[in-house]
Amino acid sequence: MKIQDFNAYKKESRKITMLTCYDHWSAQILAESNVDCLLVGDSVAMILYGEDSTLNISTSDIARHVAAVKKGAPDKFIIGDMPFLSYRKDLTTTMNNVEKLMKAGANSIKLEGAQGNLEMIEHIVASGVPVMGHLGLTPQMVHQLGGYKVQGKSETQAQHIKDWAIQLQNAGCYSLVLECVPTDLAKDITTELEIPTIGIGAGNVTDGQVLVLQDMLGAFTKNAKFVKAYENLNERIKAKANLFCTEVQDLEYPSQKESYS
Ligand code: KIV
Repeated sequence: MKIQDFNAYKKESRKITMLTCYDHWSAQILAESNVDCLLVGDSVAMILYGEDSTLNISTSDIARHVAAVKKGAPDKFIIGDMPFLSYRKDLTTTMNNVEKLMKAGANSIKLEGAQGNLEMIEHIVASGVPVMGHLGLTPQMVHQLGGYKVQGKSETQAQHIKDWAIQLQNAGCYSLVLECVPTDLAKDITTELEIPTIGIGAGNVTDGQVLVLQDMLGAFTKNAKFVKAYENLNERIKAKANLFCTEVQDLEYPSQKESYS
């Protein structure tokens, strides 16, 4: 997928698929899949580092993960997530952080929210870096939002999100993640915008869908309502780990086949 394809897919009503990917191993697997693009999300903080929010991850950390994913999936469109506050301090700091992700191998960056970000987005886009927006439940604002809750339920909130979506498009974003919003709101925004929306917990009305890889594989235990686990990897891994233990105890592993004479 190339940057131009995002708009082309929307025009053709072809859904965009995106999965998170943080490491070389899963990148190699996804490189051979039909998934359109890979998001090195700041959710890596929770999924791989065991943090209870996405706040405690640095741009250097994300850049390291981007580099690993790029090596595993060099031909996929890779989006690097700008971490908490990494784009809120000043222009120089923001651009240094953007540079880290792009030089690590990202094709685009993603950042959360519209308020106070629009000028920065214009500058990043004008510097040749595609920007994906993110509205609705923006996990970096969890303390402001008072928890991980559906956003845009009231008329006023919904109107704010619609306005911000248009502002992000006008600032130059090429696509927009809509997280945890009512389906009707996601539909209104998707219809209104020229750029594609990519939903997570936003119903099937968006121009694409994104999920956290470990969630959709059943390899993470704290799943939200919108997650569909297509596998039960946790149980399968546990069963194989137990089989390994049993075989070691019973002297079945290593057998002659796995030993040197
Ligand atoms: O970090 C992440 O995984 C994300 C997705 C949930 C969209 O931002």
